Amino acid sequence: MTSPLFRTKKVEQSIRDTEEPEHALKKSLSALDLTVFGVGVIIGTGIFVLTGTVAKNNAGPAVALAFAVAGVVCALAALCYAEFASTVPVAGSAYTFSYASLGELPAWIIGWDLILEFALGTAVVAVGWSGYIHSLLNNVGWELPAALGTRDGAEGFGFDILSAALVLVLTGILVLGMKLSARVTSVVVAIKVTVVLVVIIAGAFFVKGANYEPFVPKAQPVEAGESLHSPLIQLMFGWAPANFGVMGVFTAASVVFFAFIGFDIVATAAEETRNPQRDMPRGILGSLFICTALYVAVSIVVTGMQHYSELSVDAPLADAFKATGHPWYAGFISFGAAVGLTTVCMILLLGQTRVFFAMSRDGLLPRFFSRVHPRFRTPHRPTILLGVIIAIVAGFTPLTELAELVNIGTLFAFVIVAISVIILRRSRPDLHRSFRTPWVPFLPILSVAASLWLMLNLPAETWVRFGIWMVIGIVVYFLYSRSHSRMSPKGDKASVPRSR
Ligand code: ALA
Repeated sequence: MTSPLFRTKKVEQSIRDTEEPEHALKKSLSALDLTVFGVGVIIGTGIFVLTGTVAKNNAGPAVALAFAVAGVVCALAALCYAEFASTVPVAGSAYTFSYASLGELPAWIIGWDLILEFALGTAVVAVGWSGYIHSLLNNVGWELPAALGTRDGAEGFGFDILSAALVLVLTGILVLGMKLSARVTSVVVAIKVTVVLVVIIAGAFFVKGANYEPFVPKAQPVEAGESLHSPLIQLMFGWAPANFGVMGVFTAASVVFFAFIGFDIVATAAEETRNPQRDMPRGILGSLFICTALYVAVSIVVTGMQHYSELSVDAPLADAFKATGHPWYAGFISFGAAVGLTTVCMILLLGQTRVFFAMSRDGLLPRFFSRVHPRFRTPHRPTILLGVIIAIVAGFTPLTELAELVNIGTLFAFVIVAISVIILRRSRPDLHRSFRTPWVPFLPILSVAASLWLMLNLPAETWVRFGIWMVIGIVVYFLYSRSHSRMSPKGDKASVPRSR
C-alpha cells in the first residue's frame, strides 16, 4: 500500500518517540499495578447499575449468561490486545497498534473512536456515581436543589453538579501525576472488591430458588414505534423486535458489555510500565478473568434474592438487600459503589488523555497537547481540556444511550485490533513478541465475528449516532491531520522543534 493514507509508523519509531525527553512519560508500573488498575476500571457502573436494568428489561436471571457472553467476547479481544501491547509498548492503545500495522487513516479512525469511548464512558460513570451519592445524601435527609441535582431540573434546566465536580477533581489528580493516581486506585479497588464479595457471600444466604423461574423468560414483543431502538440485527432480518428469550440474552450482552470496558485501557499504560513485554499480558488477562467471575456470581446472587421484574434500575445491588430487609448492608454497598465508581471514572479519563496525547505526538492533533508538564511529567494540557469538556457533558446528558454509544465504539476498536494482529504478523514477522495470540488467524477472526455480533445487537439509532461521529472524524482528518502528520514531509517541517 503506497498511498499516504496507509503510511504506517514503524514500531521502532513509536518506541523511539517515547524516549524524547519532553514527550516521555514516567515508567513506574508493575504487573500487579496493572491488574489493580484493570480491576479498578473494569468493575463499575456495568455491574452496579446495568445488571438491574438488563435483568428487568432484556434477560431476567439469564443476565448471568449475558455477562458470560460479553466476557468471552472480551477475552478473545484481550488475547489480541495482549500481543499488540507487548509488541508496541507505547501510549495510545489500539490507536498506536493500528498506526504500526494498518496505516495512518485507519489509525486516525480508531483514535477518534477511542476518544468517543473514553470521554463518554467517563461521563456515564460520573453520572452513575452521582446517582449513588444522591441516594446516600437522601438517606441522611439531604437533597440538592432540583436544578443542580439532576439533568432534568424542575424548570426545564438541569445540571448535575455532582458528576461535573467529580470529573473536575479527578482531572486535577491526574495532572499531579500517575504515581498518586495509582496509589489512590489501589485503596479504592480494595474497597470495591470487598463490596462485591459482600454482595456475593452475604447475598447467597437470601437467595430463593423460585426467583430463578423462569431462568430465560419467554420472548415478549416490543411496543410499536420503538423500532429505531430495536437491535439492528432484528431490523436487518425483518424479525419482529422482542425482549427476553434467547435474543434477549444477546441484547443484554451488548449492553452489559459496558461492564468490561477498561481492560483495553490497561494497554494504554504500556509506556508507563517497567517491563511491558512481560507484565502487559498478565495485567490484561488477569484483571479480565477476575471480573468475569465476579460478575457472573453477583448476577446469579442478585436475581436469586429478588425476582428480576422487581429489581431496581438505579441501585439494584443495594436495593436487593433492602428488599430482603437488610438496610445496613444496602448502605454499605451504596457507599462502596460510590467510592468504587470514582476510580473507574479516573482511569477512563486517564485512558482518554493518553490516546489524545499519542495522537498529538504524531501530529494528527496539534503538537501543543503532547508537551508533558515539566515537573509532574503528565500530559496536563489534554487532561485539562478534556476534563472540562467531559464535566460539561456529564452535567447535562442522560446516560443510557451514551452507554450504548460507548459500547459500539469499543467493539469497533476490538474489530480493528484483531485485524491488525493478522496484518502485523504478515508485514512484520521479525518483531519480537513476548506474548503471541494463539491460533492466528483463527482466533482473531473469531474475535472480529464475536465483536460484530454484539455490535449488531445494539439499537439501530446507536449505529446512526456512531456513523455521524465517525464522519466528523474523517472530515477533521482530511482538513487537518493528514497534512500535519509527522509522517508527512510537510508535517515534519511544521512540527514543534525538538529540544536540542
Ligand atoms: N467497566 C466500567 C464500568 O462498568 C466502565 O463502569
